[in-house]
Amino acid sequence: MSPTPSPPSHPALYEANDLLAAQLAAVEVLMRECLHCDVPLINQVSHYVIASGGKRLRPVLVLLSACAMGYAGRRHIDLAVIVELIHTATLLHDDVVDSSRLRRGQKTANIVWGNEASVLVGDFLYSRAFQMMVDIGEMKVLKILADATNTIAEGEVMQLVNCRDPATTEARYLDTIRFKTAKLFEAATRLGAVIAVSEVADEKALACYGRHLGTAFQLVDDALDYSATATDIGKNIGDDLAEGKPTLPLLYAMWQGSSAQAAFIRRAIEDGGLEQIEQISAAIESTGAITYTLALAEAEAWEAREALAGLPGSPFLDALVALTKFTVERKS
Ligand code: IPE
Ligand code: IPE
Ligand code: MG
Ligand code: MG
Repeated sequence: MSPTPSPPSHPALYEANDLLAAQLAAVEVLMRECLHCDVPLINQVSHYVIASGGKRLRPVLVLLSACAMGYAGRRHIDLAVIVELIHTATLLHDDVVDSSRLRRGQKTANIVWGNEASVLVGDFLYSRAFQMMVDIGEMKVLKILADATNTIAEGEVMQLVNCRDPATTEARYLDTIRFKTAKLFEAATRLGAVIAVSEVADEKALACYGRHLGTAFQLVDDALDYSATATDIGKNIGDDLAEGKPTLPLLYAMWQGSSAQAAFIRRAIEDGGLEQIEQISAAIESTGAITYTLALAEAEAWEAREALAGLPGSPFLDALVALTKFTVERKS
């Protein structure tokens, strides 16, 4: 079986992976074990997507948070796997909804096996994650993960409603990304604190860190959809535009552009499609829309760093701080 997580692409991620090497190896082993199933299609699809790489950022956040709180047991490995399974399920569903063709540098599961298989195997991953949560046997853990999963679903539906709507406001956009993305980051870091039986204030601090980090992460993801290369991010550039997704770079260019620019961006959001990509990229460039989006991400990353201020110093805490830099500087 191919080795998995993608090689770390930023020093902060590299250092975190180094610090957690043995634990992350245990995460990989457990993830494969728990995916085993007698239905061959489930095995094929789930192994395809798990073995295709991914940064394993959410497991890293669970493990770092638990270790930063002095946890010395093994249950954070299970939690890291659970969170990555939920993340993977959301990706399978998201690629169907977004009609995406490339993920982690290879064809999406919906292209290889079709939408039906992707949705159903996504459901399998969600429910496997819930089986594992029940095995942990802690109502608080179950509640955090049940709430997070429900919020992600709400966020994806909010995004569906925003789609093709040029009247989407910055507030509505931010709410959507907090729901669909930041909530799982928040759950990951909170769970690290919970499993380590931390003080309430420390649990809140880590949850706040995760929430802001996740918001910054999605802001940067939305900027990269216009500014990265497919080779770097392993996804097709322009997927958001193709779907008429009113993400912040596009909205900002519409708000700040000339009336002609505003008119064609509005039409592009309403119609979707990539026909106007060159004009739109030029408008995004000339209005400073990427710079604006990244400045917002930087502000969120700053909040994330601030949230950690009262926690005890350790290499794990340093790694959490460094990940705020990765989140805004990442190119992949
Ligand atoms: C992709 O997340 C989905 C978003 C929230 C933008 P990642 O960029 O963490 O995906 P992988 O797991 O590394 O492929
Ligand atoms: C993140 O949004 C989706 C989830 C939280 C599942 P995107 O649609 O921007 O993620 P990518 O770009 O497809 O990875
Ligand atoms: Mg998507
Ligand atoms: Mg994206």
